[in-house]
Amino acid sequence: MRVMLSSCTEEMIAAAAQKLKNGNLVAFPTETVYGLGADATNQKAVEKIYQVKGRPENHPLIVHIANINQLEKWAVDIKPYAIQLARDFWPGPMTLILKRSSLAKDFITGGQESVGLRIPAHPVALALLKNFTESGQESGCGVAAPSANRFGAVSPTSANAVAEELLPYLNINEDQILDGGPCLVGVESTIIDCRNEQPIILRSGAITAELIAESIGIETSNKSVDEIRVSGSLESHYSPKAKVILDQQPNSGDGFIALENISTPEGVIRLASPKTVAEFARILYASLREADARGLTKVVVQQPEGNGLAVAIRDRLQRAAY
Ligand code: TXA
Ligand code: MG
Repeated sequence: MRVMLSSCTEEMIAAAAQKLKNGNLVAFPTETVYGLGADATNQKAVEKIYQVKGRPENHPLIVHIANINQLEKWAVDIKPYAIQLARDFWPGPMTLILKRSSLAKDFITGGQESVGLRIPAHPVALALLKNFTESGQESGCGVAAPSANRFGAVSPTSANAVAEELLPYLNINEDQILDGGPCLVGVESTIIDCRNEQPIILRSGAITAELIAESIGIETSNKSVDEIRVSGSLESHYSPKAKVILDQQPNSGDGFIALENISTPEGVIRLASPKTVAEFARILYASLREADARGLTKVVVQQPEGNGLAVAIRDRLQRAAY
């Protein structure tokens, strides 16, 4: 029987897993954003990711795994609270930074002693990872995948956005883009450094400080960790071509993104009117891309207030506006 996973069939996913095994790239949906995947144990394949993204080579990549048992292949000295987080929030929008095992080579970690690991929740991603990592082959241990955008640009939340951005750089005969529909979360995973007594949030996301504290009974810290290279922590990142302006009155001809209850001044081009903070996160990147597609020079965003996912939205917006 053919099982449809969004617009992907099991056969398409098996073919994509085979491409990964052959050392090619597969862009795939996750619940956060689309990722550009390669076999995380194949240096040549991982180097292709850097070429396609135009990303500096000393930036580490997240390794995506299918199953919590694969944690111990990639990481050592795992703290009990990290295991608790994995049990509570995986599959889900959370990346754990742990001490690396010898499997996590410098080309994955950027030469650092840590490795980032995540089990994504999207059914297509999970099916791809299961097919790839449970084949019994030595290479199938994990899929390295950054967001499937050019370095510094807005992360893609649809297969179309991936194609628009990366098709000129992909090898169309060998690489593949899997379409799993629009991403449900819309901002990248929360990154938590779990190597110390107290977890440190390196990048905010849908797994919030409140959820983490509730899960493990330990407060997180946001201590600055300058020695760790997180490209998402660069001051300028996630930027569309249009200039992003925060919390100001838009002028005629400007793009405008704000919660539904905020009205649109005359002549202003409303790009999105999310009803909730979750919807705000879900549509944010597509709306910024829409501003570029319409050739707008300026897009004004009214930032959502409060804790929870609003923290991640403001984090990305401030970098987009930098
Ligand atoms: O939601 C996500 O996390 C998406 C999907 C595809 O899983 N991936 C993603 O990857 O956002 P990327 O490469 O665009 O951003 C991951 C961030 C980078 O800023 C990278 O520097 C950081 O994670 N990172 C990866 N491994 C790390 C490590 N060992 N230590 C510190 N930061 C790390
Ligand atoms: Mg990225």
